[in-house]
Amino acid sequence: MNENEGINRRVIQWFPGHMTKTLRLMEVEIKNVDCVLQILDARIPLSSLNPELERITASKPHLYLLNKADLADPAITKQWLHYFQSAGAGCLAMDSKQRGGAGAVKAPIERELSALLARRRNRGMVGARIHVMVVGIPNVGKSTFINNLAGSARAKAANRPGVTRGKQWITVDEFDLMDMPGVLWKKFDSLEVATHLAFIGSIKDDILDIEELACGLLSSVRSIYPTQLLERYKLGEDALALPPYDLLQAIARKRGMLVSGGEADTERAATMLVGEFRASKWGRISLERPPQRQPEADFDGEEGEDVAQDDD
Ligand code: G4P
Repeated sequence: MNENEGINRRVIQWFPGHMTKTLRLMEVEIKNVDCVLQILDARIPLSSLNPELERITASKPHLYLLNKADLADPAITKQWLHYFQSAGAGCLAMDSKQRGGAGAVKAPIERELSALLARRRNRGMVGARIHVMVVGIPNVGKSTFINNLAGSARAKAANRPGVTRGKQWITVDEFDLMDMPGVLWKKFDSLEVATHLAFIGSIKDDILDIEELACGLLSSVRSIYPTQLLERYKLGEDALALPPYDLLQAIARKRGMLVSGGEADTERAATMLVGEFRASKWGRISLERPPQRQPEADFDGEEGEDVAQDDD
């Protein structure tokens, strides 16, 4: 089984109607903001970089947040920061669950908007508010980040990618943040992207086959973090050579997950495995590495002309 075989292809058709509405709303509201904060998942920065959001927000200065950095491999996150920054894009790593951590975003936003803020100062517009649109895929941590920045439990964090929310403005110091509901792709060109989004829980689990998901995850992780997997499930090295479904069965047996007749309860083991991966019980894991070659203009944050909305 190759690493992409774990997810049924119907995953790539999932684009609920409310996401279409959100994209339309963004197309209208983008004119009313000074910059865009795109929240990515540090474990899968490229797969969580939604091309639809990139297209709609391309005219505005950008800052990328590699959120859930506490769950990702710190050495790989460093490489990703370098990757984005060397493409001219503002980028920082974030653990939105760490109290007060989100405040670190304010200075980089002001840096991205330095030309606009200088113009405002020259016109005596001291204290003019900075409008920021916060975008990202479902479950990437937008509410958690905004709550952290706002210092309250304003938006309820929910680990349910199907949950719909409308546009909301949140005021924090001189910033007005426009919190947008999470949006996925209309159509996934890459099965690997869809697979990675399913692993981290950005695609509704109800439409996934949990055993396929767990087998895909085992297949991916055993090649990049074999030790974590072996240690967590107390397996011998020879287990790494097993086909993913046999590995799933071996793990079920190790955990005493059996059905009547002594067969391995693979469904229960699969649910346990996916849950433990998402809860970082396997250790800090990054599923994606930066591509070797630097992109020319993959991101919208290139230095150069300031295209922020003017205040005339
Ligand atoms: P969304 O608005 O983008 O849909 O995401 P939301 O903030 O609801 O966060 C989704 C889940 O991700 C929540 O978990 C939240 O706690 C978790 N999360 C968000 N940011 C971070 C982060 O930087 N690090 C870690 N480790 N987790 C993060 P949950 O299980 O639904 O909620 P809870 O039980 O943690 O409250």
